[in-house]
Amino acid sequence: MFDREFFIGKKVFITGHTGFKGSWLCMLLSYLRADVYGYALEPPTNPALFNIAGAGSLLKKSIIGDIRDYKLLRESLMQVKPEIVIHMAAQPLVRESYLRPVETYEINVMGTVHLLEALRHVDSVKAAINVTTDKCYENKEWHWGYRENEPMGGYDPYSNSKSCSELVTASFRNSYFNPADYGVKHHLALASARAGNVIGGGDWADDRLIPDFIRSIVNRQTVRIRSPYAIRPWQHVLEPLAGYLTLAALLYRDGCRYAAGWNFGPEDSDAQNVEWITGTICRMWGDGAAYEIDTHPQPHEANYLKLDCSNAKTLLGWYPKWNIQTALGSIVDWTKEYIAGKDMKSVCMQQIEKYLNS
Ligand SMILES: NC(=O)c1ccc[n+]([C@@H]2O[C@H](COP(=O)([O-])OP(=O)(O)OC[C@H]3O[C@@H](n4cnc5c(N)ncnc54)[C@H](O)[C@@H]3O)[C@@H](O)[C@H]2O)c1
Repeated sequence: MFDREFFIGKKVFITGHTGFKGSWLCMLLSYLRADVYGYALEPPTNPALFNIAGAGSLLKKSIIGDIRDYKLLRESLMQVKPEIVIHMAAQPLVRESYLRPVETYEINVMGTVHLLEALRHVDSVKAAINVTTDKCYENKEWHWGYRENEPMGGYDPYSNSKSCSELVTASFRNSYFNPADYGVKHHLALASARAGNVIGGGDWADDRLIPDFIRSIVNRQTVRIRSPYAIRPWQHVLEPLAGYLTLAALLYRDGCRYAAGWNFGPEDSDAQNVEWITGTICRMWGDGAAYEIDTHPQPHEANYLKLDCSNAKTLLGWYPKWNIQTALGSIVDWTKEYIAGKDMKSVCMQQIEKYLNS
């Protein structure tokens, strides 16, 4: 796990800072007293955690811009002169990618190309991480965990676009940020991070289990679940974020030794099916919360891809801290506080403190 002192005063540039993971990352970095800058479109949902928690007020600067706008992106980076870049701006939904494949590829693939090309012209950056997903691997439908050197793949446009984004990262690392040339031709250590389904308070994305649950609960409706037996690698959002920061600190300090792809997934025991998750969270919520199964045909979603996280545990010293029950409990607590009209910035900060102290 990262050294908490490390981020004090570090200039960190996050793309996708107005999204669910981005908002939590802004708050985590602000808790760690980093100087945080963001580049993204407006928050993708309404309501949005970014607004509810007032994450914007924690930033040195929030730039509203499109990742496909190379000129603005490059100018923004040149102005900010960050030391660390974490790239999370994306079209992140599988179902949306079936509806808008061209846009999904434009944002997820060319967006990454634009960012990495811009980084060739910004000397200040010492560490950069491209955030992709467990879905980037070629799904061999086996039960073993996927290792970082497994082939890329991706069945649907979203998964495949993230796979392409991984290949783009590897190509830029080979061509422009080659570890063999570190300290001579460049000073940038470039890595990618692959994490699974994240859950946490404040996610309002469409077609995700926990947001659907929260919406139903808030509107006092029965929760409808699809694919009850689908197993997903659930983990609290702070887990991969802590992984990205651990990796960023090592890239910054040790350069290219860590410039590669890294898996950040939950423990095996936390890979539960959708019905188990829904039943557990309904029980935790109480107040008669109930669910029913939606039997309509659903578009293809790849079966569970288990990540082998031995590398992150052994070489980075990262490990998951919260099991699935603790993660679900934190979502129930968060949502109850939200419904009660509490100050959600302090609720998030308290959860961050609890996580870091676990
Ligand atoms: N949420 C998950 O379970 C999960 C799992 C694995 C990987 N990821 C990855 O993590 C990252 C963040 O995901 P999230 O769940 O927070 O998504 P999100 O939809 O909540 O946020 C996406 C962010 O990207 C920005 N964005 C979208 N299109 C853009 C564009 N054209 N130009 C600039 N910014 C743009 C949005 O404004 C927002 O800030 C994504 O790269 C996603 O693929 C998410």
